[in-house]
Amino acid sequence: MDTSAFSIAIMAAGKGTRLKSKRPKVLHEIGGRALLLHVIAAAEKVVSADRIYCVIGHEADRVRAAVESTGVRFVLQPEQRGTGHALQMVKAFFVLSGLPVPENLLVLSGDVPLIRPETITAICDIHLREHAAMTILTAVPPDPTGYGRVLRLAPGRPEVSAIVEQKSLAPDQLATSEINSGIYCFHTAALFEKLDLLSTDNAHGEFYLTDVAAMLVADSQRVVAVKAESVDEVLGANTIAEMMQLDAAMRLVTARRLMVAGVTIFRPETTVIDSEVTVGPDTVIEPYVQLLGATKIGSECRIRSYSVIQDTVIGDSVTVRNGCIMDSATIADSAILGPYAHLRPESRIGTGAHVGNFVETKKVTLGAGSKANHLNYLGDAVIGSGVNVGAGAITCNYDGVHKHQTTIGDNVFVGSDSTLVAPVTIESGSYIAAGSCITENVPEGALALGRARQVTKPGWVEKKNKEKEAC
Ligand code: UD1
Ligand code: CA
Repeated sequence: MDTSAFSIAIMAAGKGTRLKSKRPKVLHEIGGRALLLHVIAAAEKVVSADRIYCVIGHEADRVRAAVESTGVRFVLQPEQRGTGHALQMVKAFFVLSGLPVPENLLVLSGDVPLIRPETITAICDIHLREHAAMTILTAVPPDPTGYGRVLRLAPGRPEVSAIVEQKSLAPDQLATSEINSGIYCFHTAALFEKLDLLSTDNAHGEFYLTDVAAMLVADSQRVVAVKAESVDEVLGANTIAEMMQLDAAMRLVTARRLMVAGVTIFRPETTVIDSEVTVGPDTVIEPYVQLLGATKIGSECRIRSYSVIQDTVIGDSVTVRNGCIMDSATIADSAILGPYAHLRPESRIGTGAHVGNFVETKKVTLGAGSKANHLNYLGDAVIGSGVNVGAGAITCNYDGVHKHQTTIGDNVFVGSDSTLVAPVTIESGSYIAAGSCITENVPEGALALGRARQVTKPGWVEKKNKEKEAC
């Protein structure tokens, strides 16, 4: 469908009083992304960002900063006097900026985040076909309480007579189950003409955009309603509990998408998977796994329970055992991690490498086939391939002021409980004796011992006991 005659306004200036939160409502997150960013993402699939007008007001600077990179335009609503007032600001913006007024204006709510681009396009399409002045997207949810209700002229007919807000419903209207989604398409000139006539004579003392419906009808203009294909898509988020319901719905959609693409997810309702995460086929995800942010996982991996993986890229055939924590790491094919490994930012784990129990890495490159299997801290280090880092060995990378680098060549054997005091270089093929404190570079093929000699005193215990008896 040709959407060149449409622009989109997104109402996002409200405070969200019902959330009882300091954070502006539209910046609360579901599926790991702010509500408003979900709405902008859907809108951008229909029209270009420079034809999207985002109405901001409450904590405007914070909201603007959070979504600015999308390239949408901003309209300031300094005081939040209702959804009708938000659109009055859009009208004023066109007058002041001199930007061409679009023939049709599609209006979305910043707190109705599951809206799909296909539905937006469908409303535009119906709006044109019906030659309507206003087209309202509706739904019939199991519990309509709290929403505005859409009154049709006659059951089954598309024409609408009015939208009535919950608080203004007459006793005989309370049973009306068709709700207003807060998503509309307007013939812009018809909308702009009516906006100036809105009043605040209602339960909230606000300018209601919804009043425009009855005003247009009174003027013999056509107002129609169209039901959304799925109720979930138009559910609003006015409380934290409602938002968490949407979050669960969205994550289930993501899990289903991955399963359709060949991923096995045991007990998907226990996983927390952000919407942008990708996973290859034949990967198995066990219960209680979290995959967050821009995480990408290859195929034929196994991600065992209780792992939390954020912004991390994992290759194919990788095993992540229970309870691993990863943030901004890169893992090559066939690596084995955990249980309980902590991979911090800029950890690069090579092909077939092992990072085992209670190992912490930060800004580390671990070469192909290298192993750090038990109780290590590896920070600011470049480690070659085929290296064995023994249990308890650590890099001392921080002198209290600066970080320093440890370099370890290929096939080095680092004995257990060694401390490598950076900056230090351990060249290929060398051995570090267990329990060493290494403060000097070690040349290729050498054995370095950095520990006190053992002293053994034969018969010492017997001698000591005799001394005790004597006194
Ligand atoms: C609104 C509708 C209601 C509908 C519901 C669907 C009105 C009067 N009512 O009610 O019929 O069923 O949405 O979710 O429109 N906003 C501004 N500026 C303001 C006030 C609000 O930009 O001055 C924004 C909010 O940030 C929000 C959206 O408009 O994103 C809707 O406002 P909200 O107060 O949540 O309206 P509802 O009570 O949900
Ligand atoms: Ca709302």
